[in-house]
Amino acid sequence: MRFSLLALGAATLVSALSIEERAPEAQPELEARVNIPVVTCQGYGKYEGIYDYTGGPYYPGCAMVTQSCIALNGTSIWSHSQCVAAAMCQGTYGVITLNQCQNPNVLPATQIPNLSGTIWANIVGSCVDDGCPMTQQNFIDFVYGAMSAANVTEWPGSVNDVIQDWWTPLMTWTATGNTIPYSNLDDWLHYSNS
Ligand SMILES: *[C@@H]1O[C@H](CO)[C@@H](O)[C@H](O)[C@H]1NC(C)=O
Ligand SMILES: *[C@@H]1O[C@H](CO)[C@@H](O)[C@H](O)[C@H]1NC(C)=O
Ligand SMILES: *[C@@H]1O[C@H](CO)[C@@H](O)[C@H](O)[C@H]1NC(C)=O
Repeated sequence: MRFSLLALGAATLVSALSIEERAPEAQPELEARVNIPVVTCQGYGKYEGIYDYTGGPYYPGCAMVTQSCIALNGTSIWSHSQCVAAAMCQGTYGVITLNQCQNPNVLPATQIPNLSGTIWANIVGSCVDDGCPMTQQNFIDFVYGAMSAANVTEWPGSVNDVIQDWWTPLMTWTATGNTIPYSNLDDWLHYSNS
């Protein structure tokens, strides 16, 4: 555990340093955010895997999913399942910011292209054509699938932790009962600043 944390920290620092060099002209929307603390891209890099940067529990598996998202260096980030899963396990704001730090073509949160239909279909499965919403089980399968794809070695301690720390904040924000329709998940990605 300790070894992995240190290794992760070192890897994050290296990538954050190269990000930092590019940062100056790239982040007007960061400065425009009213109550953002004075942090750099390095600061965000340090908190990978921690939901909402509020000192919540640290999940190494989530940090690895986030790193695999960032490694894609995409712009239509909600067309990458690793990035959608990263948002689900650590909130949207850090994932968006880290992508903006390394790629000036990533738009401000509200203008990032919508969640891809392919990813949504993967999440909800064969009922997609009937407009079914995402269930808690769909969510769990999706985030565990993303961790598996990211070759995670340190998994969350239990599914209950995942429900409490990742699913519940999302469900609380969308306020759509026990399940979440496409448009509410898409809104969360664009507007929650979570
Ligand atoms: C990411 O893509 C942007 C835009 O194409 C490019 O300027 C930047 O060097 C890339 N960063 C990495 C780490 O590949
Ligand atoms: C993205 O979703 C919003 C809200 O559902 C919708 O108004 C908009 O047309 C969509 N954008 C695209 C490019 O499909
Ligand atoms: C995970 O491991 C597989 C098999 O070794 C490899 O092909 C893949 O690129 C790895 N994925 C990541 C995100 O490192």
